[in-house]
Amino acid sequence: MPQVLEFSDVVVRRNARNIVDRVDWSVTDDQRWVVLGPNGAGKTTVLQLAASLLHPTSGSVGILGERLGRTDVFELRPRIGFASSAMARRIPAEETVLDVVLTAAYAVVGRWREDYEDIDERRAMRVLAEWKLEGLAERTFGTLSDGEQKRVQIARAVMTDPELLLLDEPTASLDLGAREELLALLGGYAQAPTTPAMIMVTHHVEEIPVGFTHVLLLREGRVVAAGPLAQTLTAESLTETFGMPITLTEDAGRYAARAAS
Ligand SMILES: Nc1ncnc2c1ncn2[C@@H]1O[C@H](COP(=O)(O)OP(=O)(O)O)[C@@H](O)[C@H]1O
Ligand SMILES: [Mg+2]
Repeated sequence: MPQVLEFSDVVVRRNARNIVDRVDWSVTDDQRWVVLGPNGAGKTTVLQLAASLLHPTSGSVGILGERLGRTDVFELRPRIGFASSAMARRIPAEETVLDVVLTAAYAVVGRWREDYEDIDERRAMRVLAEWKLEGLAERTFGTLSDGEQKRVQIARAVMTDPELLLLDEPTASLDLGAREELLALLGGYAQAPTTPAMIMVTHHVEEIPVGFTHVLLLREGRVVAAGPLAQTLTAESLTETFGMPITLTEDAGRYAARAAS
């Protein structure tokens, strides 16, 4: 299977502290990873490295066959879909849903708005339908519910048909219904054969969609464990990751964790 990510001894140092500390990690294009760890563990920083938005202080980061520092990131970035709340804050509230998704295509091909073609619009409508946003195309982003906004961000990230899809806490702040709706969509997407490699950050095991295959557990910038979900996500590894005794249950591919009594 083609390599999508290859981290070797990666360090990101800030304020005399390694916020990513000697991380080795590899991802192939058939894998769907969850990156799990407490607040401040370095999850977002790892995702920014994978998105080629950040260079490591030392070590090497390979992305889609290119190596950071030896490649033009402006050629690499269009091949990567990325959705995060930091990016969502930059979407103008008055922009329509259709435009939010369509502009992802202009960013990639560097075309001006007036030049876009029917084909982009047809693809955007198809992507909107895939993420249960049909009927909202003409609504402005600012008028959507949290759950709808999250789905629009993901639709925007997949619009360009990326080879790697990165999602930073897509289910954060959603109510139960919106969370479950999004997890079902993410699970369906993760299991489709044409889907690219996916990496999703969360700090709740309850938010791991069915169909995800691997987990990277981080604590204080270091890898606690990495590998296939079934073997790697255990009460022991979670106990070490979160620094407290934890029990874990699994039911039909969904996980739940709580403090051990
Ligand atoms: N640019 C920066 N300068 C200094 N510290 C940073 C910077 N970016 C992140 N950090 C710190 O690094 C740690 C890891 O951050 P982050 O990757 O955002 O963690 P997570 O996403 O797991 O919550 C946190 O303690 C954060 O405060
Ligand atoms: Mg984060």
